[in-house]
Amino acid sequence: MEIKNLSKTFFSDKGMDTVIDEVSFDVKDGEFLVILGPGRCGKTVLLNLIAGLLEKTTGKVLLKGQELDGPNKDLSMVFQKLALMSFKTVMENVELGLKFSGVEKRERRKLAQHYIDLVGLNGFENSYPKQLSGGMKQRVGIARAYAVKPEILIMDEPFGQLDAQTRYSMQNEILRIWQEEKRTVIFVTNNIEEACYLADRIILLSEYPATVKEIYEIDMKRPRDRVDEEFLSLRTEISDNTDLGI
Ligand SMILES: Nc1ncnc2c1ncn2[C@@H]1O[C@H](COP(=O)(O)OP(=O)(O)O)[C@@H](O)[C@H]1O
Ligand SMILES: [Mg+2]
Repeated sequence: MEIKNLSKTFFSDKGMDTVIDEVSFDVKDGEFLVILGPGRCGKTVLLNLIAGLLEKTTGKVLLKGQELDGPNKDLSMVFQKLALMSFKTVMENVELGLKFSGVEKRERRKLAQHYIDLVGLNGFENSYPKQLSGGMKQRVGIARAYAVKPEILIMDEPFGQLDAQTRYSMQNEILRIWQEEKRTVIFVTNNIEEACYLADRIILLSEYPATVKEIYEIDMKRPRDRVDEEFLSLRTEISDNTDLGI
């Protein structure tokens, strides 16, 4: 995928507000790409532009050489705030995207069950969201996004609301799922350590309005050790290059 000179300016009574300013980068097949940037810098707007949920002011998004315009079934989103249906079960929530794309019931069930098993929610098919912990709800969101078999999964700060311990375990889970499913992931975070732990490459964004500040290739072997020298020096290097704090 190629993101070329993407910009977004909002127009209102108060004037113009440029949130994304000429952002360009590519996304390699199968990679775990992390977009790292401070709060309010424009990360969610950028993802919405990529996913075709928001109109671009300038620029292009190309997938396999074809320009994307509007929502596309090759892209699937895991949201920051959970978008689960409270009156539907885990199974029904995971089936939702499949239902929209017209997959028939038996096939739908089979696919949904596969992804429920993959995210470790076997046995919770008939539970409702309110009966689940924060980490489990995120697993439902991840299963739902994977179930439609998109080319690229886009995840917007999916672990931002989780406590530290659950967040660490979900980071390991998302890597395991990525390695099993072999699909491209674009993962957004404002957390430097999370970015260093997960990424094949990090696109570091500036403060608002978002521009690409730096691109880091991360070739540390996995699983990574958050306290070894290589990890800490990368973390420090990125930290010194941002206003993100630690
Ligand atoms: N629909 C909109 N209209 C006007 N301004 C918006 C709109 N959506 C987002 N913004 C502005 O864009 C900026 C970046 O927002 P966002 O992408 O949500 O940041 P992040 O996800 O990095 O925390 C914010 O200042 C926000 O007010
Ligand atoms: Mg956001």
